[in-house]
Amino acid sequence: MAKILVNNSGPLHGEVWISGAKNSVLPLLAATLMTADTCVIEDVPDLADVSVMKKMLCNYGAKIDDAEEGTIKISTPEIISCEGDRELVQEMRASLFTMGPMLARYGKIVMPMPGGCTIGKRPIDLHLKGFRALGAEVVEDDENEQVTVTAGPEGLTGDVIYLDFPSVGATENILMAATLAKGTTIIENAAKEPEIIDLANQLNKMGARIKSAGTDMIRIEGVEKLSGCIHEAIPDRIETGTFMLAAAITRGDVLIRNALPGHVRPIIAKLRECNVGIEVTPEGIYVDARDRDLIATDIKTLPYPGFPTDIQSPFMAFLTTVNGSSVVRETVFENRFMHVVELNRMGAGIEIENREAIVPGGKQLKGAKVRATDLRAGAAMVLAGLAATGTTEISEIYHIERGYENFVGKFKAIGADIMKISND
Ligand code: EPZ
Repeated sequence: MAKILVNNSGPLHGEVWISGAKNSVLPLLAATLMTADTCVIEDVPDLADVSVMKKMLCNYGAKIDDAEEGTIKISTPEIISCEGDRELVQEMRASLFTMGPMLARYGKIVMPMPGGCTIGKRPIDLHLKGFRALGAEVVEDDENEQVTVTAGPEGLTGDVIYLDFPSVGATENILMAATLAKGTTIIENAAKEPEIIDLANQLNKMGARIKSAGTDMIRIEGVEKLSGCIHEAIPDRIETGTFMLAAAITRGDVLIRNALPGHVRPIIAKLRECNVGIEVTPEGIYVDARDRDLIATDIKTLPYPGFPTDIQSPFMAFLTTVNGSSVVRETVFENRFMHVVELNRMGAGIEIENREAIVPGGKQLKGAKVRATDLRAGAAMVLAGLAATGTTEISEIYHIERGYENFVGKFKAIGADIMKISND
């Protein structure tokens, strides 16, 4: 199995270019199922998750031209299957985002259940609640671990849908299905993440009539059909936060290009509370942690615009190195502290009480053999390795490659002593 080796790297310095957002590109690609016309999606990162999504779409009948780096041309002249591939769904939960588009375009989807993952059970009850509200029949087959969703004979019909939790995926799935429903749909307590706005922007380019995406109440006027489009994905706010923290944990200075400061306000605010220098310039976000007495702060993850759960583990790695104790509260997922055991192997001394982690801080981490327990925890272990003495060996790095484009290369370019090895 491949591993990543990281040595203590001293202060990082230089500039990094942020790729297109994984959590935007995946629904953007799924949405193209809803038209037979050609869609062109630009700034698509080269990620394992994107490859899985392309396979999912081709199984339904999509034709893909990805000859040009970073650009995907895709059209689905006709749907040839309405069954999600079980292996692909288990490899990537975001395969679920094809349910809404398939329901809208074809009127039926048979989707294997992805099951939980290391960070939580991750049910899809809110997705199914939305489909039922749009008039679809939902049959959950526990024996075969799959769900069949079928639109009525007249197709989908708009309705008011309240989300008990502002689920990103449920908001996206329902938003896509509603674009081709008859009449008006209102999604109440909708997720407000930037990726929702990016998806709504693409859908409106395709002819959808969506209003106030990005607020907690989204209104969709159903239309007869959708057309092709050209759409560029937004940059990845989680990759942006990851590299901001790379500068902070190594006490270096890094200019983060192609980042949208408005998408990372909580991270900027929290790093400033720690006395890290952050400057928003026309060139990008400049993070300067050199020669500064950094201090601890507390973190509480929340749905957007709160502090992002995907940055919780990288920020925790950073907090282990600053003076002062901090409390990290995870409110979005029920089991997103798997990285604590790994950080403690490096001497972090973190204790967990319910959904709070108490980080004593002020530690000189020591290199160790550790695991990537999920995509973002893997990034956190790389950050910890940069600041630790000696060598840190990170296994199960397939998690990292799902969501970070050219991860090792980008770190090398700003001075990290890092390499990928394969023990095959
Ligand atoms: C998206 O996952 C992201 N993935 C996640 O990023 C991110 O952590 C998450 O949103 C929260 O921001 C993609 O966009 C591909 P949710 P999603 O539905 O849509 C509960 C990464 O590292 N819930 O907002 O699955 C759920 O159990 C990944 O890039 C229900 O109870 O997240 C969780 O506790 C990790 N019922 C909470 O809501 C449902 O029907 C948030 O889940 C759906 C969700």
